[in-house]
Amino acid sequence: MKRKIFPIKYTSINIIKTEKNKITNKIIKNNILKKEDVKKNYVIIKVEYTNLNYKDFLMFKGNGGLVKKFPHTPGIDASGIIYYSNSKKFKKSEKIFIVARPLGVNTKGSFSEYITVPDDWVEKLPKGLTTKEVMMIGTSGFTAIKAVNKSLSKILKYKKKPVLVTGATSNVGMFTILLLANIGINIEVVTSKKENNTILKKMGVTKIHNIKNFVKTPNFPLLNEKYSVVFENLGGDIISICLKYIVKKGILLSIGNILGNISKINILPLILRGVELIGINAESSGANERKKILKTFKSKKLIQQLSKRTKVISLNEVSKIMKFENYNKKTLRFVIKL
Ligand SMILES: NC(=O)c1ccc[n+]([C@@H]2O[C@H](COP(=O)([O-])OP(=O)(O)OC[C@H]3O[C@@H](n4cnc5c(N)ncnc54)[C@H](OP(=O)(O)O)[C@@H]3O)[C@@H](O)[C@H]2O)c1
Repeated sequence: MKRKIFPIKYTSINIIKTEKNKITNKIIKNNILKKEDVKKNYVIIKVEYTNLNYKDFLMFKGNGGLVKKFPHTPGIDASGIIYYSNSKKFKKSEKIFIVARPLGVNTKGSFSEYITVPDDWVEKLPKGLTTKEVMMIGTSGFTAIKAVNKSLSKILKYKKKPVLVTGATSNVGMFTILLLANIGINIEVVTSKKENNTILKKMGVTKIHNIKNFVKTPNFPLLNEKYSVVFENLGGDIISICLKYIVKKGILLSIGNILGNISKINILPLILRGVELIGINAESSGANERKKILKTFKSKKLIQQLSKRTKVISLNEVSKIMKFENYNKKTLRFVIKL
C-alpha cells in the first residue's frame, strides 16, 4: 500500500515575539504542511543537515531588521532529499542542497525537518559529497571561495606580502584561512579573542593582531604598504584602517558587517595607491561562477580538514549555543543534524 504523504507533521525552531515584545525561541513539534502549501515549481525537502551562521545568531538575538514576520524559522543552508516535488526539475528521493540563496531570510529557514522552496534554489548534490559534508562548507565556505577566486591573481602577484583576514574565527574567516594556507599564502589575522591563538597558528596564520590593538593606529591617511589583499569580515570603521595598509593596486574585499554597515573612510588609499574596494555577495553569483565555486566543494583535502573542525549538534542544542557568551567563543563549524 502506498504511504500517505500529506499532511506532514514536523518539528522546527521558531523565533517568536512574546506579548511583552520580547524575542525568544522555541521548538515547535506540531507544524503541519499540506499539499496545497506546495506551489507550482516548488519542492518539499526533508532536511538532513543544516549549519549555524551569523545571520541565524542575529535572529536569535532578535535583530529587528532581519526577521520580517514572526514566528520565523532561521537557517540559511540545507541539505537532504526531495520528499515531494511539484517541479519538473526534481524527482522524489534525489539528494540535494541549498547554499547562497535567500533561504531563511525571505522565507522560513532550515532549522526545520521539512522546508518548502522554489526549485531554482535547489541543486543536485555533486557525486562524492555527502549531505553532511556540503553543510560543513555551506554559504560561508561558498563566500570564502568566491572571495579567494576574486583576488588570487593579485595575491600571487605580490606573493612576498601577506594577506589580512579580519574576524578570523568567523566561519567565513576560518574557511578563508584554510583555503589560503593550503596554497602557501602568508596570512595575518585580526581577532577579538586570545583563546584561539593556538588554533589559528596551527592553521598556518603567521601573525595574530588583537582587534583592540589593531585599531590603535596613528591617524595618518596612509600607513606602511603591508597587505596585498584584505578579507574584511567585520565592517564598521575597521575598513578605514585596513585600507591604509594595502599595497598599490591592492584589494579590500568587503564581506561582512558584524561591527556595522557604516564606515568613515579616508579616500587617499583609493586615490593615491589605486586600492580597489570590492563588495562580495554570495547570493548574486551567476550560474558560471557558482559552477566554478562548487568545484572547490569537492576537494577531498578540504573536506578532511573541515571534518576535524566540525561539531554535529541536534536541534535541541541550538538555543544554548546561540547565547552570545557561547556563540562568541566558537571556533568549530556547527552542523545541525535534523
Ligand atoms: N557577503 C556575503 O555574501 C556573506 C556571506 C556569508 C556571510 N557574510 C557575512 O560575513 C560575516 C561573518 O559571517 P559568519 O557566519 O562567518 O560569522 P560567525 O561564524 O558568526 O562569526 C562571528 C565572528 O565575528 C567576530 N566578532 C567580532 N566582534 C563581534 C561581535 N561584537 N559579536 C559577534 N562576533 C564578533 C568573532 O570572531 P573574532 O573573535 O575572530 O573576531 C566571531 O567569531 C557576517 O557579517 C556575515 O553576515 C557575508
